[in-house]
Amino acid sequence: MSTKPQGGNSVVGKPIDRVDGKLKVTGQAKYSADISLPNMAYAAVVQSTISAGKITAIDTAEAEKVAGVLAVLTHQNAPRLKKSDNDQNNVPILQDNIIRFAGQNIAVVVADTFEIATHAADLVKVTYAPSKSPNTNPDPLSNTLFEQMQKSPGQSRGDFVAGMKNAAVKIEATYTTPTETHNPMEPFATVAHWEGDKLTVYETTQGVFPSKKSISEMAGIPANNITVITHFLGGGFGCKLSVWSHAIMAVLAAKQVKRPVKLVLKRTQMYGPVGFRPKTFQQITLGATKQGKLTAMKHLSVNETSLFRQFTEYCTEPTNVMYACPNVTTAIKQAAINIGSPTWMRAPGDAPGSFALESAMDELAYALGIDPIELRVKNFADKDPESGKPWSSNSLLECYKVGAQRFGWAKRSPAIKSMKRGKMQVGLGVAAATHPTYRSEAGAIASISSDGTATIKSGTQDIGTGTYTIMAQVAADILGLPINKIKVELGDTRFPQTPLSGGSQTAASVGSAVTAAAKKLLDALFDLAIGDEKSPLQKSEKKDLEFRNGVLTEKGSKSSEKIGDLLKRNNMPKLEVTAKSTPAKDDKYAKRSFGVQFAEVEVEPDLGRVHVTRMLGAYAAGKILNEKTARSQMLGGMIWGMGMTLFEETLMDHKLGRIVNNDFAEYHIPVHADMPSFDVIFIPEEDPHVNPVGAKGVGELAINGAAAAIANAIYHATGKRLRHIPITLDQLF
Ligand code: MOS
Repeated sequence: MSTKPQGGNSVVGKPIDRVDGKLKVTGQAKYSADISLPNMAYAAVVQSTISAGKITAIDTAEAEKVAGVLAVLTHQNAPRLKKSDNDQNNVPILQDNIIRFAGQNIAVVVADTFEIATHAADLVKVTYAPSKSPNTNPDPLSNTLFEQMQKSPGQSRGDFVAGMKNAAVKIEATYTTPTETHNPMEPFATVAHWEGDKLTVYETTQGVFPSKKSISEMAGIPANNITVITHFLGGGFGCKLSVWSHAIMAVLAAKQVKRPVKLVLKRTQMYGPVGFRPKTFQQITLGATKQGKLTAMKHLSVNETSLFRQFTEYCTEPTNVMYACPNVTTAIKQAAINIGSPTWMRAPGDAPGSFALESAMDELAYALGIDPIELRVKNFADKDPESGKPWSSNSLLECYKVGAQRFGWAKRSPAIKSMKRGKMQVGLGVAAATHPTYRSEAGAIASISSDGTATIKSGTQDIGTGTYTIMAQVAADILGLPINKIKVELGDTRFPQTPLSGGSQTAASVGSAVTAAAKKLLDALFDLAIGDEKSPLQKSEKKDLEFRNGVLTEKGSKSSEKIGDLLKRNNMPKLEVTAKSTPAKDDKYAKRSFGVQFAEVEVEPDLGRVHVTRMLGAYAAGKILNEKTARSQMLGGMIWGMGMTLFEETLMDHKLGRIVNNDFAEYHIPVHADMPSFDVIFIPEEDPHVNPVGAKGVGELAINGAAAAIANAIYHATGKRLRHIPITLDQLF
């Protein structure tokens, strides 16, 4: 239990089951692709098979001849759209014949059934004039960009060159991380439904409001005419933070055929056109005194991006904030090539960036002959090294201590190749993690009806992490109701405005809004009782009133009244309020979550096969609203960290310019047989400064550092310092 209960029957913090769990396991939860509307038609996309060039002819005659086909939209007949000013929306949507990457959606077929649409899509004949010099390989470009950055590095504090002069020990190394494709369980799906000039879109999105805005800007539809609904999302991890071309194509197709249209992408169609984590190249230089104090750090990073939309992977972010080093230089550049647009993937920047930084810190620890934890503790930043502001709270030192103890770090023998289990080489590794605590303005409606049931409504979407559940918990505690008396409705732009579920900000943002709405509801309830001359509480002072289990009572007196009686007498079926919670503009505090990742590996000496045997994460992320759903997120992050270190890689055939492993058979992610034993520790943090709900967000923190912890464990086991992930057999052979 990581948080103190607030009252007698407090549920915040408790590891309670998901309130929507039953709906999910009984198939009653409707995801976007489950939406079925009367007279609905189905769409299927056609994707480009070349990576660069032009479409010289696109023959849709055969597809159109198939019985049941309603329309085929291509760049030749699709409505002309105004280019959005927002780079985020800048994806190709049938506006010209230019091919920018393999997998670009170049036509959409609409038919009476999914099967007919899919079949007819295969009959669309495309003739290309391929570009003579397509480029899908960022490697050569990255070298040029590094040369430029070495000459004039960017953002910095202190004086890197001077700092290096004071260094007794130096580390300089280059790390690379692969292109990774998001593979949420739920593929992308859009159901577009026009009624006159009003459009409803059931969309797989991590942000109903940003989606509404993007659809408006991309398709040229007034935002007021658009409703976006996402009741359930089967994971997004960043790729569903944007509206991609297929969604707009569904909207245009529905308009054209005058029927609701459902478009679901196949798994294979999600490799390229709907984002991915870009490949990164990172150069790190560290300087330290003999005692292990960092004197200078440099982190330069290059990430691949598309030719039509610039995306920056902020790999240098952890280097700017993790350690109390006075002299820091960081810079980032992009290598633009013929690929789809990269996008955010769980802990964008931080996940690949922390692999490089925390590997480099491990290298430094060995070079100095200092324990890797001790080195990190020595360089602990007791305030934000960038802004100089105090932390709202920071329990990183506690994470090292508690984590090391539970993991048995003291039993590790420091020398490489010094630990064995049978014939297996054993290694233990560690890495630090941090993530910013974001919060945006959010709103919520809270109401209570005469039967004593409360309802919370907020636009925000539950992306699978448990938002329905934690919002019910937050409301239950404030309203003094059991959790089964709280109904939560989410995922609809007709409800109060909320931010996207990205940057691990939903608990903090929407939790604060629900806190505000529930408090405002209590206040309104007390006002109603005091203002009602027939209420036994009419003479009470507001500060003496309490509301528990549907009954208003006055402290220290026997006066009380049931909610039903009060509302009925006032002819109110329910009492409802709307509230907004806005973060303060200038903040006195720097706000981050922190954590430490531990990993143990066994490496087969003959084959070089790596088995991760144990992982432990010790995390400090403010108030943990639900220990069960939070733990699930941590496990997900650690497992993903393992996948990132050992398995995941989107492989490009540079001759064809196409991704070759675009399915679950070839794109490897960890399975049950790969699972180590897991331990998740939440360090209790009561942070009154961070936000009204006290939560810092957990989703993205969990993956940070995981790859470095495993790579560092592999070094400890084998003496092989592997700076490129995924780490595969051939590197250890
Ligand atoms: Mo997250 S990558 O901000 O969905």
